[in-house]
Amino acid sequence: MSESLLQSIRAIESRVRAAIAAAESIETLQAVERDALGKTGELAQILRGLKDLDDAGKKAVGQAGNVAKRAIEAGLAERRAALEAAAIAVALTRDRIDPTEPAPRRLSGHEHPVKAVMRELEDLFESMGFTVVDGPEIETDFFNFEALNIPPHHPARDTQDTFYVAGGPVLRTHTSGMQVRAMRKLGAPLRVVAPGRVFRNETQDATHEHTFHQLEGLVVDEGISIAHLKAVLDELLARLFGERVETRLRPHHFPFVEPGLELDFRCRLCNGKGCATCKGGGWIELCGCGMVHPKVLQAGNVDPERFTGFAFGLGIDRLTMMRHAISDIRWMMSGDLRFLGQF
Ligand code: FA5
Repeated sequence: MSESLLQSIRAIESRVRAAIAAAESIETLQAVERDALGKTGELAQILRGLKDLDDAGKKAVGQAGNVAKRAIEAGLAERRAALEAAAIAVALTRDRIDPTEPAPRRLSGHEHPVKAVMRELEDLFESMGFTVVDGPEIETDFFNFEALNIPPHHPARDTQDTFYVAGGPVLRTHTSGMQVRAMRKLGAPLRVVAPGRVFRNETQDATHEHTFHQLEGLVVDEGISIAHLKAVLDELLARLFGERVETRLRPHHFPFVEPGLELDFRCRLCNGKGCATCKGGGWIELCGCGMVHPKVLQAGNVDPERFTGFAFGLGIDRLTMMRHAISDIRWMMSGDLRFLGQF
């Protein structure tokens, strides 16, 4: 009787040792421990039968059981330490931080697509002999409206409603205020572009924002005609898009040009078929332009008898939309990384 129990104990011990050696995780090791040493485990069941043995048998089997138990406990502790050390080594390698490693590209900031197009425009105009000038976003009523032949209460103010401070400055509604500023500062002849942010009290939709960007262009010289205006805009768009792009010019009234025109761009999202972005029309209005009004030349201290000039105000956000096939201008200021990460 006791001899067969002793054999069972030896068999259990060697089986458990093999299971310990094979355990690849702490969880497996815990299961081995439960099966071998738990209250309902194999060893416990054998030791429960001790009461049926004679004294010599109790002593021999009891001692053998305890020796096996301690051996198994030692084996478990050793294997647990080895598994824990291996887990720590893996974590150390996996979670290692190299402070000298450059940040992943998607985490490092980059230029906003509108800013990138603005820079590209500046480079293109500089290559055509234009000077880039900068002006204030908070503008006087005089430069934003009055000097541009838009006196108080003129209906043209309704189309460019903005944020007024009583009797004081306005958030500029367009970059055209730079026309008179540039003429007063640089005199004629001149060839300038003035890119920047502008603001309007505007109902937002796919092509209208309350805060957007324009690039003002102004050329004043002797003998300047509308043909020069068209040539510059065509050249600019061809260079920007790397191919001839379809545009159309149509008459439009702006008090500060005569004649006044608007330039539309074939909608690139639908190839002119009509979509939600171009509101079904197939064209996106890109730019107001025309021949500088004599009153504006005068406000800029330029002699309208001697000089003529053309001016244009390009919508940079809409140009960026056409460039990258962006369907809604409201993405531009969304700050949404899913949008920004695409550029
Ligand atoms: C003007 O702002 C005139 N100052 C343009 C001009 C300059 C005319 C020089 C004559 C001579 P307009 O409001 O149409 O015009 O705006 C010009 C361009 O800015 C539009 O063609 C469009 O591309 C863009 N734009 C206008 N309003 C918005 C808006 N709410 N959101 C986004 N882009 C706009």
